[in-house]
Amino acid sequence: MPEHRFIVCNYSHNLTSGAVSWQSPSNIALVKYWGKYGEQLPMNASISFTLKNCNTKTVLSFKKKNTAGFDFEVFLDGKREESFEPKIQKFFERVEVYLPFLKEFKFKIETSNSFPHSSGIASSASGMSALALCLMDMEQQMQPNITNEYFIEKASFLARLGSGSACRSLEGPLIVWGEHPEIEGSSNYFGTKYPFAVHKNFENYQDTILLVDKGEKQVSSTLGHDLMVDHPFAEQRFRQAKDNLSKLIPVFKNGDISEFIKIVESEALSLHAMMMTSIPYFILMKPNTLEIINHIWKFREISGSNVCFTLDAGANVHVLYPESEKEIVLQFINNKLSQFCKNGEYIEDEVGLGAEAILN
Ligand code: DP6
Repeated sequence: MPEHRFIVCNYSHNLTSGAVSWQSPSNIALVKYWGKYGEQLPMNASISFTLKNCNTKTVLSFKKKNTAGFDFEVFLDGKREESFEPKIQKFFERVEVYLPFLKEFKFKIETSNSFPHSSGIASSASGMSALALCLMDMEQQMQPNITNEYFIEKASFLARLGSGSACRSLEGPLIVWGEHPEIEGSSNYFGTKYPFAVHKNFENYQDTILLVDKGEKQVSSTLGHDLMVDHPFAEQRFRQAKDNLSKLIPVFKNGDISEFIKIVESEALSLHAMMMTSIPYFILMKPNTLEIINHIWKFREISGSNVCFTLDAGANVHVLYPESEKEIVLQFINNKLSQFCKNGEYIEDEVGLGAEAILN
């Protein structure tokens, strides 16, 4: 069992108090994770672009204590955020077996996002990966001989236990999570770097996130994943995801963007089709999501551009395009698409290389 590798019996060094800090980005899946089993294990392999500008910064301060139980407080942008604490409590309970020091410290978790909290962009991937990295930073101080490879794998493993997609945020530019027969080293337990050649057409790929709906999601991802358990199309969906990841391998190698578009848009619509056909069914797209999709299709037809879209579990649209088309696509977004965004707002992002330690 791979998880046994991450259980520690004793540490060589003592820690009493201090602070560690990491910045970790969000990611956008090209082949989607939707459906899980066991303890946060994915029903199919997924692959994502790591983003650059949408990120979470976390400072974890710690002080040795003598009392029992977990002891922590969470602050968002300097203000206590008690609504985050049940999720962190659950995370601590899940990872305690791998981080036996958790109950020995009083923690202060100070976090801030580069994107507005109300933007409807999920902060769980960036937030959980940043926290997992902070905890691994502590572990490394108590056990300085751990390798970089172990550090990053265990951090991804822990991030996954906080939120599945978070395990794909630590490195970049392309991360696979979930066992796939054609991708050696791929694992259900942590994210790994995509190991094959990637054509220069995909270098610095752009992702402009159109903020269609900034409210709280009506249905959480966790509930959506659960609805895949008895879903009538579950088996076909997991097979489709596996096949789509196989098809992306030659696409990345040859730089075939028109094939890339077919796979990525089909994945986005299949994800939402799963939501619409589960029991209970639900729709996370909004009328403006569809307006944007139709405008993208029309623009592609008349301009010959390689712009395309993907969606996560919400109404916002991720507009994906090669760096070489930045100028024309941003013009198109300004002229045609921004009117469908709440207050005309969108976030310009692009593919990035993952998390970084913030040194004091
Ligand atoms: C649609 O990772 O948010 O964005 O594991 O329950 O925290 P939990 O779910 P989460 O699900 C993300 C789903 C998705 C697709 C993807 O990112 O692959």
